[in-house]
Amino acid sequence: MANTILVGAQWGDEGKGKIIDFLTEKADVVVRSQGGNNAGHTVIAGDKKYVLHLIPSGILRPGKACVIGNGVVLDPVAVVAEIEGVRAAKIKVGKNLLISDCAHLVLPYHRLLDEARELAKGKGKIGTTKRGIGPAYADKASRTGLRMGDLMQPELFSKKLALRIKENNAVLKAFGAKPVSFKKVNEEYLAAGEVLRPFVCNTVVYLHEALKAGKELLFEGAQGTFLDIDHGTYPYVTSSNTTAGGAATGSGVPPHRIDRVLGVMKAYTTRVGEGPFPTENDQISDMLHAMGREFGATTGRARRCGWFDAVATHFATMVNGIDDVAITNLDGLDTVDVIKVCVGYKSGRKKIDVPPSDFLQLAECEPVYIELPGWLTPTSGARKFEDLPPNAQAYALKLAELTGGRLAIVSVGAHRDQTILL
Ligand code: IMP
Ligand code: MG
Repeated sequence: MANTILVGAQWGDEGKGKIIDFLTEKADVVVRSQGGNNAGHTVIAGDKKYVLHLIPSGILRPGKACVIGNGVVLDPVAVVAEIEGVRAAKIKVGKNLLISDCAHLVLPYHRLLDEARELAKGKGKIGTTKRGIGPAYADKASRTGLRMGDLMQPELFSKKLALRIKENNAVLKAFGAKPVSFKKVNEEYLAAGEVLRPFVCNTVVYLHEALKAGKELLFEGAQGTFLDIDHGTYPYVTSSNTTAGGAATGSGVPPHRIDRVLGVMKAYTTRVGEGPFPTENDQISDMLHAMGREFGATTGRARRCGWFDAVATHFATMVNGIDDVAITNLDGLDTVDVIKVCVGYKSGRKKIDVPPSDFLQLAECEPVYIELPGWLTPTSGARKFEDLPPNAQAYALKLAELTGGRLAIVSVGAHRDQTILL
């Protein structure tokens, strides 16, 4: 399989967790390199449904190593809860989980600041998951963050934490928010730290040893291309590099050791949170929600939905270097008779084929659509590409062509066997 980065080519929730779980069968090590527990990866294995936020989806397959890399921001209390949840489902978590000592900690004041800033923004809010992701990455960049390695040294951790809480409580106070208690946070975090101690190590060294031993790595991207802090619809983005480059910096695996980028995209588009979304369409939203689809795995929010946007996915191919394309949720369009696909934007009188980097300009873009015939047949039973109705085959191939990658996978349902490999 070679070392593969899997990225979301849209606004997140492309079904990456399911595809990762499917690909993990052939990989040896699964690596998370960015984001935190803002992510929600839903995986159905057998008859059980798992929602993972921080632990790589590879954990569900025995014998696979799962690495939480240095680029991740991690709430230790949330990781402990997630480990317990996974163990309760009789899945082994031991030597198969490794956590970077350089991963930054998400602390309660990050969550409170995230909430306070959103509240202060009022209508201009980002619509974050309120998991403290932005403030945690801000601390990392400001060089005022605490890391997993600090948590492994209780005395040092407590000293640093006391200073950080003092400063952050002053900021929280300015927002009119409640301060946090040093004693409580210190106890909770140190306790979680002790549970996590066996997993914490220098994951860069581990990954390089794995590479030397010829093991295959799979990088599990979280969120999607247009939530990237640099390349997304800033400021309506998350705070990490969700695009392929983030996998290298977020893990310490050099770019030239990565062989392939797989872009995952839905057969339509969704977005949670605020921000521009040119192909948003109420009818598609209503239809998908009525089918019980498109509710957020982390926050339960109804996702905004719209037509497939090939201007966006084509740009995603540029930024990520997408070689192969996985199209998910094809079955979501089983009942649509004429399907629209956005192939350009009109910006004023100009036709453009690249999303403007300014979110206001993007918000004003009018999509230019082509129409493709639907298939009006259930596809969830298809197991081979040939099983799909001809119009569904043509649709999937067209999306890959417009995106600029090779169609490699089509997914027609949440179960492992509802995955068609081309
Ligand atoms: P944050 O990452 O919680 O700061 O949220 C910033 C933006 O990214 C918001 O629009 C969120 O809804 C969105 N976001 C963050 N994580 C995910 C995800 O895993 N899937 C989809 N959207 C996400
Ligand atoms: Mg998700």
